[in-house]
Amino acid sequence: MTTNESDCQISEINYKEHWNAAYTKNSTEKLGWYEEKSIKTLKLITKTKLPKEAKILNVGVGSSTIIDSLLKEGYTNLIANDLAEKPLENLQIRLGEKSKKVTFIIDDLVNPTKLNTVRDVDLWNDRAVLHFFLKEEEKKSYFNLIRKVVKPGGYVIIAVFALDGAEKCCGLSLQRYDAQILQDYLGDGFTLLEELNHTFINPYGGERPYVYTLFQRKN
Ligand SMILES: C[S@@+](CC[C@H](N)C(=O)[O-])C[C@H]1O[C@@H](n2cnc3c(N)ncnc32)[C@H](O)[C@@H]1O
Repeated sequence: MTTNESDCQISEINYKEHWNAAYTKNSTEKLGWYEEKSIKTLKLITKTKLPKEAKILNVGVGSSTIIDSLLKEGYTNLIANDLAEKPLENLQIRLGEKSKKVTFIIDDLVNPTKLNTVRDVDLWNDRAVLHFFLKEEEKKSYFNLIRKVVKPGGYVIIAVFALDGAEKCCGLSLQRYDAQILQDYLGDGFTLLEELNHTFINPYGGERPYVYTLFQRKN
């Protein structure tokens, strides 16, 4: 049997399949990024003093309990986005009847079609998603989407692996951040209101240093 060069090339990862497989193989509580309660995110949301009807776009939310918490706190205009269907299905099943109060959008943050049409977002909420985008064009797309959908005066929460954070998650390489790098990508149309460091302890006892940031879009 002979092998030619093309046999040895690593094919592009299909990210949708990759994430669907991760959420199929593991129950929500067994995922490496699972947190029982999104305490730091909730703290930053409280700081915005947004009204309960504020439009909150939770990007790459997976099956996170942030949606359960926000519903419990009385927020009425929640959007749950992910690239993969499986985590949103899991979330829907867990929420039961309450899922009817949430808008679900399956779409790719770096190649958006449906998300492109969303407007007047009061709060963009990302935990553990941006750091997977390694190509400059992907990051450009992500930050352009923020500028398209977040209204003037609106807020952006980005929580990603800190500079001393892990180098991989779910088998994928990561870019690590601090608030200044995020500010540079967002540009001077956004003001940093808060930056906090938080070491997340994952379900297997591993320490995962994150940086949490809250920005506000200038009017
Ligand atoms: C590490 S998990 C974090 C999930 C959730 N934010 C949390 O904190 O539990 C990353 C999530 O980003 C989603 N994701 C990855 N690439 C994406 C993309 N291009 N567009 C939208 N979601 C994406 C994955 O499917 C996965 O649910």
